[in-house]
Amino acid sequence: MTQDATSGRAEILADPEAVAQRTAEFLTEQALAKAGPFVLALSGGSTPKRLYEILAGSPYAAKFPWDRVQLFYGDERFVPPDDESSNYHMSSVAMLSKVPVPPANVHRMPTDGDPADAARRYQRDLQTQYRAETVESGRPLFDVVLLGLGENGHTASLFPGTDVLHETEAWVATCVPHDAPHTRLTLTYPAIASSRYVLFLVAGAGKAEVVAKVRGGDKAQPSTQITTEGELIWMLDRAAAGNATGADD
Ligand code: 6PG
Repeated sequence: MTQDATSGRAEILADPEAVAQRTAEFLTEQALAKAGPFVLALSGGSTPKRLYEILAGSPYAAKFPWDRVQLFYGDERFVPPDDESSNYHMSSVAMLSKVPVPPANVHRMPTDGDPADAARRYQRDLQTQYRAETVESGRPLFDVVLLGLGENGHTASLFPGTDVLHETEAWVATCVPHDAPHTRLTLTYPAIASSRYVLFLVAGAGKAEVVAKVRGGDKAQPSTQITTEGELIWMLDRAAAGNATGADD
């Protein structure tokens, strides 16, 4: 199955808490159903933060196969790992510091030295996990990629009007957004496409317009170009879905 942002199905949930709860349940089911490493790309953002807190609490902390998970990041601000705006820092406070995940299974994006070199180092880290230098169709790099959606249509750090949107080879690249602070490292479209599942976690009425544009195929939104060789699922709250009843469309 190959899907994109327009063909993926939506689960419409009551509120941001329900989105985080449902995603915790989904990730745990997927991780338990798979033998061997479960390779997960984490996202930044407020709904993912709540998801990480839920995974670190009862009942998930005791059920989740922490020894088999390999945690990567979808994007990162080029700031030290203890910076308040670091996605690694957020995930660490919300989850990593509270669960028995082996430190070697946590692959934070490097944010020292030259950003382009750091992107290459992170790509090598992913290639070591994947045991190959190019992605092969039918053998996804990631089990699940978690993504958010910005009001300007960005996802991960794939920002409007930046060169990374044209990257077809590298798995990891730099991005300097025109409308947001910090140089970033980000997974590219081809890396995200090599996945069993892509999950967009989106909540709040402020996102309803951009959700409609992306799901409607508006090519001006970077998120519209996201594809996966697996399944794409929108985990939306009612406000982001622009739907007061909670029914799927
Ligand atoms: C980040 C992200 C980014 C985020 C969107 C949506 O580090 O901020 O990876 O792509 O997911 O900006 O963020 P919210 O869900 O918090 O609105």
